[in-house]
Amino acid sequence: MWTEYHMARHEVRLTLAAIIERRGAGIAFPTRTLHIPNEVRLANESHGLTDGRSGQDEGRMGRAGRNGTRERAKPRRSAERAKEGYTAALKGVQMMRIAALLTVGIVLGLGIDRAPVHAQGRTVFDGVYSEAQAARGEAAYAAHCSSCHMPSLRGFFDGGMAASIIGEGFVNNWTAGTLLDLFAKIKDTMPYEAADTVSDADKLDIMTYVLKRNAFPAGDADLALDEGALSDVLVAPKGGLPPPASGQMVRALGCLSLGPNGTFVLTRSTAPKRIKNPLASRGAALKAAATEPLADANVQLLDVFPKPTNHVGHRVEAKGLLITEPSLGINVIAFTMVAENCGS
Ligand code: HEC
Repeated sequence: MWTEYHMARHEVRLTLAAIIERRGAGIAFPTRTLHIPNEVRLANESHGLTDGRSGQDEGRMGRAGRNGTRERAKPRRSAERAKEGYTAALKGVQMMRIAALLTVGIVLGLGIDRAPVHAQGRTVFDGVYSEAQAARGEAAYAAHCSSCHMPSLRGFFDGGMAASIIGEGFVNNWTAGTLLDLFAKIKDTMPYEAADTVSDADKLDIMTYVLKRNAFPAGDADLALDEGALSDVLVAPKGGLPPPASGQMVRALGCLSLGPNGTFVLTRSTAPKRIKNPLASRGAALKAAATEPLADANVQLLDVFPKPTNHVGHRVEAKGLLITEPSLGINVIAFTMVAENCGS
């Protein structure tokens, strides 16, 4: 029950943050608590927090799936117009819900004055797959995906929706994510309601075809079916991501310390970095965090539940929404103990 409440709350936050950001605004924190009635689900939630591994999404996937299946038999007549109307209606509903739900101030223009782009590791612009791999992917796409996402990759809309997996909207949706995030989505949930009918290797090839169709260039070598390799490649604009703005999803790694008045602070923290997936790190990512160099930021942690008193002095990772005023902080969604000492 508590977990469900938290998942719903975070999903709403994520979706709102994305909507607000798309409109060129930022969120003015602090927002310690959002009170959300149980039944509230945002209508475009299929683009929110989706890690099929969690199993939390099954309800809505089932709904969309029935629609999606029914849709395929129908002609595509006026699908585009219907989609536009739907999107407009959706926006209206969302804005009302924002007004109803949020206790935060929306400050227009916050996102405009961004500092220059930071240098990053590999991005999708760095030739991370081969032409041969994308060609294999094209054939597998035709066999397993195009019935819903269409040869155009644009999906369809007519009461149900197979998402568009091409163009600005798609790329924005995955920006700040890694190829592991995108692959996890495909691996765990696609083909829709039949995820185990296609091998991981074929899905990987298909993903490289999707990258190619989105104009991310090919390189010399295949993209490897390897967690580390996939998590190494960021979906980001050419030249990397700009520094995160208030309200965006970020991750920081530091030493958990007590602040004033029973608060918690990450000291010696890395600078908060934008991410897409706010779920706690595990596996290879968690292991890598144990030896990742720390830095010199101080990051307040808000809304950590349960109180992490037992982890003071430990190396911990926090993911959540960035707060920049009055001081640097994270409204925490995932809190993970990485090591029992802070290390260097
Ligand atoms: C039976 C129809 C169907 C088939 C077949 C299908 N999909 Fe999907 N796909 C959907 C629906 C519906 C959604 C939206 C719901 C969701 O995100 O889970 C979706 C969403 C997606 C998304 C997420 C888009 C985004 O930005 O959120 C990706 C990526 C994707 N599909 C890739 C694939 C790939 C790759 C294949 C083939 C292996 C495939 N799909 C096969 C119906 C389908």
